[in-house]
Amino acid sequence: MSLIEWNASKHSVNIKHFDADHQKLFELFNDIADKMTAGEGNSIILCILLELRKYGKKHFIAEEVLMDRYAYPETSIHKQEHIIFTEKVDRFIERYKAGDKKLSIESFFFLKDWLNKHILETDKKYVDFFHKKGIE
Ligand SMILES: [Fe+2]
Ligand SMILES: [Fe+2]
Repeated sequence: MSLIEWNASKHSVNIKHFDADHQKLFELFNDIADKMTAGEGNSIILCILLELRKYGKKHFIAEEVLMDRYAYPETSIHKQEHIIFTEKVDRFIERYKAGDKKLSIESFFFLKDWLNKHILETDKKYVDFFHKKGIE
């Protein structure tokens, strides 16, 4: 079951490797949801959470490098949003490790909704700017 479905016409930012990153992040969320629903052991879920943190960071850095390189006007507000996500993932991992089920489910849904909203509202804002710089 897909908890968060990739829809190209809705989510694509028309920059190939960023779309690939976003799809990978969606996959990781779906993977966590599946494992949680299936009642899988903590170590497996924790492993995917760490992967989510690592992959999220890698993706944010890739976006930020381009923003810095081309002096994208909304860089600082965009970076701020990335920090929020990273900190929430860290807290999610802590809660998960502490066995706080209720709070970790809340964190999970917060992160999933955050990612969807961030792509649709914040990432989409850089599309025209980067396209004008020849990035596809
Ligand atoms: Fe972003
Ligand atoms: Fe992004």
